[in-house]
Amino acid sequence: MQDLALLPSDLFAGKTVFVTGGGSGINLGIARGFATLGASVGICGRTLDKLEKAKAELEEIGAAVSISVADVRDYDALEAALARTEAECSSIDCLVCGAAGNFLAPAEALSPNGFKAVVDIDLLGSFNAARAGFEQLRQTRGNIIFISAGQAFVPYYAQAHVGAAKAGIDNLMQNLALEWGRYGIRSNSIAPGPIDGTEGMKRLAPGNVKDRIADAVPLRRLGSVEDIAGAAVFLASPLASFVTGTRLVVDGGQNLPGSGLYGKMIQDAMGGSLTADRS
Ligand code: COA
Repeated sequence: MQDLALLPSDLFAGKTVFVTGGGSGINLGIARGFATLGASVGICGRTLDKLEKAKAELEEIGAAVSISVADVRDYDALEAALARTEAECSSIDCLVCGAAGNFLAPAEALSPNGFKAVVDIDLLGSFNAARAGFEQLRQTRGNIIFISAGQAFVPYYAQAHVGAAKAGIDNLMQNLALEWGRYGIRSNSIAPGPIDGTEGMKRLAPGNVKDRIADAVPLRRLGSVEDIAGAAVFLASPLASFVTGTRLVVDGGQNLPGSGLYGKMIQDAMGGSLTADRS
């Protein structure tokens, strides 16, 4: 498990980090990690209640916090959220594009609107955040961290929509690394594995499926939000100042054997609805 206390507590003093979807889960864990190391934090999300609770938690750590209700699919709302963070904290040094949507659905049962909802939140939402944050990042010579997933490079049952969205995110990440390197802006992504206690795990691994997943991960455990926060801190820190255009897989080795192990688990989680039709 990552221990951020090993790092200087003022590593990000005077810096501001903006996290989309920062009200809960992995994204709040990332915000907490940066707050622990002295950063000011801007977060946006769809639910004010969640954002207010997250703000109280981050302020308790000692961070200045700016919250904004904004759906990443709404460019104008995102632009306003970033402007508010700049006014209440400072121009952002790091942008974390973490807002995501997910559910299990076999492709033949997925409506076009269901596919679109996930691509819009994950991929379009990430572009919106990067585009709206560009001017501030250019000023600070900052960096972007996209949240990808194993689905971007391994096909998973009932995850066609997520695979398309996350593969798109990694492609966008590399295009921005290529185009915005000249402004000093670095662009990378993190592909988290199964992270305990998150909404994603609840949706993808209900019931005891999560214990089976932990047993199947080469490192024999689920990840924690601190594992992902540690990776984000590394990518945003001076230690990674020559790192751009890369995907950092933080999955305990989950994706090394492909997704075959998970096919049966996903099938069980969905009540056997993926049973092969041989007719
Ligand atoms: N299976 C199949 N289709 C589903 C679905 C499911 N479990 N959940 C939603 N959809 C479809 C809806 O039926 C709808 O399509 P339709 O108009 O053809 O019926 C489409 O997706 C949009 O649904 P809606 O509920 O209007 O979208 P939303 O924008 O309010 O919510 C979601 C977006 C669907 C991604 C929702 O699950 C969400 O808000 N998730 C955020 C949290 C999350 O997923 N966290 C985990 C991240 S790893």
